[in-house]
Amino acid sequence: MGDRLAGKVALVSGAGRGIGAAVARRLVCDGARVVCGDLNGTAATEVAASLGGDGLGLHLDVRSEASWAEAVTAATEHFGTIGVLVNNAGILRALPIVATSLEEFRETVEVNQIGVFLGLKTVAPLMAVAGSGSIVNVSSMLGLVGQAFAGAYTASKFAVTGLTKVAALEFASAGVRVNSVHPGYIGGTEMLSAVNLGVDFGDTYDVANIPLKRMGSPEEVADLVCYLASDESRYCTGAEFVIDGGLIAGVPGTTTL
Ligand code: NAI
Repeated sequence: MGDRLAGKVALVSGAGRGIGAAVARRLVCDGARVVCGDLNGTAATEVAASLGGDGLGLHLDVRSEASWAEAVTAATEHFGTIGVLVNNAGILRALPIVATSLEEFRETVEVNQIGVFLGLKTVAPLMAVAGSGSIVNVSSMLGLVGQAFAGAYTASKFAVTGLTKVAALEFASAGVRVNSVHPGYIGGTEMLSAVNLGVDFGDTYDVANIPLKRMGSPEEVADLVCYLASDESRYCTGAEFVIDGGLIAGVPGTTTL
């Protein structure tokens, strides 16, 4: 598509499928070389293989500090210093608060919240040494508003919203920007599948309440991430970028009089 990421090395967590895979493809289209990390190392390797020589796939468990260290070492040895980090890996369990076990709550926090913390902690100091970098944390619209039956997920995504701002403040003087992305309902992802949630959202979930009357696509989220990864967003840091078709802009059903 272009060369606005030419010369940059990106690491995308959770890149084995869904939004992460779309982000990896998009960043390569704009000239980056991309390291695809995922708990499912095979899937990450397959996505990377589809990117030709511009992709490297590896196992990454975002919950583990040692796994981050290994992935970043491998990425740096293969492509050079990481200039873009997309903290995308996440899980969703749909349960009412009283039906959520402590173990399930902790599992969600470990992936969605601690995973982002460890990614920041591992990669941001290296960017600071290099004097530049862009970190994009994939939160959710549920990092800004609540939704019933998503207590652990919503809590973890609000944490990502806050951590993004603190990291932006701590690394601004080092030339490292940190922003959060807040997707609404993104169609075609396994996260919203019946298997994952026990409910068939299909491709039509709640579209009547979405002002733009459709779900988003992983590619549309990838477009936004690409902008934030690039120098075109050089004056943006600590900011929330909502991509939800207008869903959380106001009171549902008030798009027409
Ligand atoms: P997905 O479920 O399709 O893919 C998530 C990927 O993360 C999978 O490849 C999975 O193997 C990987 N992963 C899970 N645990 C991991 C771990 N411990 N370490 C490394 N990788 C791990 O999900 P999707 O839809 O692509 O979501 C990506 C991100 O976007 C998530 O953070 C999600 O919360 C967020 N999001 C998704 C929305 C949607 O409608 N699908 C809406 C709002 C936010």
